[in-house]
Amino acid sequence: MTPDLVGGVESPDYASHDRAAHEPYVAVFTGDVKRELDELLTRYPTKMAALLPALWIVQRERGWVSDEGMAEVAGFLDLTPAYVKGVVTVYTMYHQHPVGKYFIQVCTTSPCGILVKAFLRHTNAGELGITSPDGKFTVIEVECLGACGFATPVMVNEEFIESVTPDKVPELLARLA
Ligand code: FES
Repeated sequence: MTPDLVGGVESPDYASHDRAAHEPYVAVFTGDVKRELDELLTRYPTKMAALLPALWIVQRERGWVSDEGMAEVAGFLDLTPAYVKGVVTVYTMYHQHPVGKYFIQVCTTSPCGILVKAFLRHTNAGELGITSPDGKFTVIEVECLGACGFATPVMVNEEFIESVTPDKVPELLARLA
């Protein structure tokens, strides 16, 4: 895990989130989390500049960034919800819907592409972007993870793993379980 991934904000703990999309929205920025945001804002020249780490806090607290979460961030940073949504939709690092405990990104650009089928088969996720029935695994494809010389690279949450081959997938997943 990378403890300090975005603007000094700690990486999400994917294991402890309430991922239920249907539950009433509860504000993220209260108490200690609001104090964390206030401290974060002192490190940036403008409120807007703190947008990415503020969104990261929402994802760390809830496991994903809902429209309500975007609106809450927009309110604190004096931005419009539409602007915040525009930023969220640019970055695959922000989840716009609940995901599994392990969020697996697999490079599917040739020559890396052979691996994604092995992940789908062994996680029972079935399809890209669909979380496995046990809530543990969400697999997506990405265009390039910047490690083409160490094919196939895979990201599991914030952990970067190189040189993964189809026969190594079951062992990798067993380590996560
Ligand atoms: S093509 Fe797979 S990491 Fe670049």
